[in-house]
Amino acid sequence: MGYHPAQMLTHLRSTTLRSLQTSASAKYLRSNSLNTCRVLSTSLRNMSSSKLAPADRLKGTDKNVWVTFTELARTTGAVNLGQGFPDYPPPAHVYEALAEVASPENFMFNQYTRGFGHPRLVNAIAKMYGRFHNRELDPMKEVLVTAGAYESLFCCFQGYVNPGDEVIIIEPFFDCYKPMTMNAGGVPKFIPLRPSKDCEVTSADWKLDPEELASLFNDKTKLIVLNTPNNPLGKVYTRDELAMIADLCQRHDVICIADEVSVNGTGLSM
Ligand SMILES: Cc1ncc(COP(=O)(O)O)c(C=O)c1O
Repeated sequence: MGYHPAQMLTHLRSTTLRSLQTSASAKYLRSNSLNTCRVLSTSLRNMSSSKLAPADRLKGTDKNVWVTFTELARTTGAVNLGQGFPDYPPPAHVYEALAEVASPENFMFNQYTRGFGHPRLVNAIAKMYGRFHNRELDPMKEVLVTAGAYESLFCCFQGYVNPGDEVIIIEPFFDCYKPMTMNAGGVPKFIPLRPSKDCEVTSADWKLDPEELASLFNDKTKLIVLNTPNNPLGKVYTRDELAMIADLCQRHDVICIADEVSVNGTGLSM
């Protein structure tokens, strides 16, 4: 890492602080976290440099499209189309509700909550998604609330992929599927959507070859990631295409992660 020694110390302090804060077993250290940090960062400075390196499983994931393009847009003054930039206020009922729960008289709302999602929220989600799936969902067992789709994807990959398991990823794909597969020790298997005609191609003209897809399913296949509408193509899979994928999953006991982040707000189902 190309850090100046002073930067390195600051970096170590903040890294140490972050890892302490995220470790449940170290919660009690928070009360004295700055002192703890100083002690740990001094001892880390005395360790050999290879021990300070990130875990091997993160190799190759230090760069990503967001970091590269955000930096390029900043340095060149270009418009960054990769990230949203709302230049209008959110609806009044949203910020008013937020201000209300954060107000001093509502301090009792400012507490730890159920880790998988507040009961009122998971109940409302189960009711809403139950209608889409045409079945009753158990809010306490079948709904998990996360901070964005990234976290739910991370939980799926970490929770299901064993080292050596194969994960089918359809190209073009959202950038985190590959590093998340590899971080879990999985092996990504790619298959492209191809335009089915030469001119005036719309998002619907991008298709999977059913035989090519079927050839990727085997005993090692654990997951397939299905992103509909597809980012970046905008392709919405048809009912027939979804049925073809579902049939392969059922025949081979493969889990489908349906990243439907652009449908009904945000939603990921398996
Ligand atoms: C297909 C897809 N999956 C996941 C994400 C990440 O969503 P979030 O910002 O909620 O973590 C995005 C964001 O654009 C996306 O397009």
